[in-house]
Amino acid sequence: MTRPTSLTVRGHLPDGYLADALRRDAALGLTAHPKWLPPKWFYDARGSRLFEDITRLPEYYPTRAEREILERHAVDIAATLSAHTLVELGSGSSEKTRLLLDALRGIGSLERYVPVDVSEPALVEAGEALLRDYPGLAVEAVVSDFDAHLGIPDGPGPTLVAFLGGTLGNLTPDQRAVFLASVRSQLRAGDGLVLGADLVKDPGVLVRAYDDAAGVTADFNRNVLRVLNRELDADFNVDRFDHVAVWDSQNAWIEMRLRSHGDQTVKLRDLDLVVEFADGEEMRTEISAKFRASGLAAEIERAGFAVTRWWTDSENRFGVALATPV
Ligand code: AVJ
Repeated sequence: MTRPTSLTVRGHLPDGYLADALRRDAALGLTAHPKWLPPKWFYDARGSRLFEDITRLPEYYPTRAEREILERHAVDIAATLSAHTLVELGSGSSEKTRLLLDALRGIGSLERYVPVDVSEPALVEAGEALLRDYPGLAVEAVVSDFDAHLGIPDGPGPTLVAFLGGTLGNLTPDQRAVFLASVRSQLRAGDGLVLGADLVKDPGVLVRAYDDAAGVTADFNRNVLRVLNRELDADFNVDRFDHVAVWDSQNAWIEMRLRSHGDQTVKLRDLDLVVEFADGEEMRTEISAKFRASGLAAEIERAGFAVTRWWTDSENRFGVALATPV
């Protein structure tokens, strides 16, 4: 007998949390030298759609490379852990998740899927689609800012936590250490972490992946200014910022920036803040770190895991690690 399918959405964020976080980030980043904004504010409805478009660009290989790995090894991952609960951090559209869900269902262990994301609409939409396709699955969505508190609800283990897409690369090394330790603190013996990470490669390939010919990434980058205009009553002239993507070989990360086209004064009325941009001034909007297998394994191990499996795609562009608590 199959249990009834159910979707629950739990908020871990107090009212106004995201609005306050955006105000804090904008006030901090726009008054810093150099200016910066955190990448999590790209993803309103339009930004999420633009990101989906990015994943289909010929230059943007990470999504396809990771999918290749999961297509090949999801069954391996499932067989290693027999997880009853799959937790996905930053689940977005939950598309690649299906490979893991199918594998876990295939071995008969899957009971519960816990997508964790800051976007409640994205969680509900993805959750409803999964309910249709996975009868009997309990979907317990958690609205959370996973860099603050993950909040895996109590329930049937073993638990497999998936953090896919290379989003770990949006964090600085210090932030990664905190994040990985926080994931580790919520896992027990027999649980696991499956982590996708983009790999260091030819800088030309990397820069093209973040500066595509069709200009979709440029539009995605500028979208953060539209978010500030709407949410903070600001008046950024979005068309007067140029998209910049550079490879920082010291830090091994791609940096996306917005470069002011001319001297500009921007008002953010909700913050009572006036910000000056000089002609050519660059503001950092995202880092996307690229990893070497050994360096990534060391970071994972320092957080209290053992890396039990490591796979790359056929062109060695992207890696997926399976780690277990020690
Ligand atoms: C979703 C964070 C993995 O860093 O490659 C894509 C976001 N930024 N193009 C990445 C992104 C520009 C993406 N992550």
